Amino acid sequence: MICINYHGHACFSLETDGLNLLTDPFISENPLATIKPESLNPDYILLSHGHPDHVGDVIEIAKRCDAVVIAPFELVQFCLRRGVKKTLAMNIGGSYNASSFSLKMTIAHHSSAYITDSDIIYTGSPCGYLITLQGKTIYFAGDTALFKDMSTIATNPIHLALLPIGDRFTMGVEDARRAVEMLQPDLVIPMHYNTWEVINQDPGKFVASIADLGCRGVVLGIEERLMLP
Ligand code: NI
Ligand code: MN
Repeated sequence: MICINYHGHACFSLETDGLNLLTDPFISENPLATIKPESLNPDYILLSHGHPDHVGDVIEIAKRCDAVVIAPFELVQFCLRRGVKKTLAMNIGGSYNASSFSLKMTIAHHSSAYITDSDIIYTGSPCGYLITLQGKTIYFAGDTALFKDMSTIATNPIHLALLPIGDRFTMGVEDARRAVEMLQPDLVIPMHYNTWEVINQDPGKFVASIADLGCRGVVLGIEERLMLP
């Protein structure tokens, strides 16, 4: 059993007995977030790219929890320089096998940099992840445009796909539907929408639009949980 908990934007907790994975922890600056970063206790934090709406609270959470930050190589250096102790650098196409889960870093068509008042800091390539745990494969797409390689991205069937639908900076609803056609997941949860007006979408409409593809779509409210049996 895997418990999926949506914290808003691209931030999910994926939890099983004794393992807590967290993606793109954008909490304290997220106008829709309803929890505090202090309430999250991940073992591993997966980052898809360096944009502030994905890096978010990673430094604070990783230091407090002694969590391992998994990210593209350059983004790992960014975290190390800010005092994160445990990291795991990867790059596109690479895999990592832990005892309780495995990962493959996938391409994402997007950009990646951390922005401060005075600098734009290069943080490597944006990415997505194929995450396998308890025999289930979860595809966390990150921020990406639609790309045709989605049709071959997984060597195992995808049980759950976490796909952006916000448009403007990522796929919108129509391209996300085409992504579902290529990925053929059992289940889809939309993400990266409604955080700000520029990415406003109707997730219910998206879920309805994929019903004929043999795939179940579920809109998770913020802090709503879903159990993957
Ligand atoms: Ni982004
Ligand atoms: Mn983003």
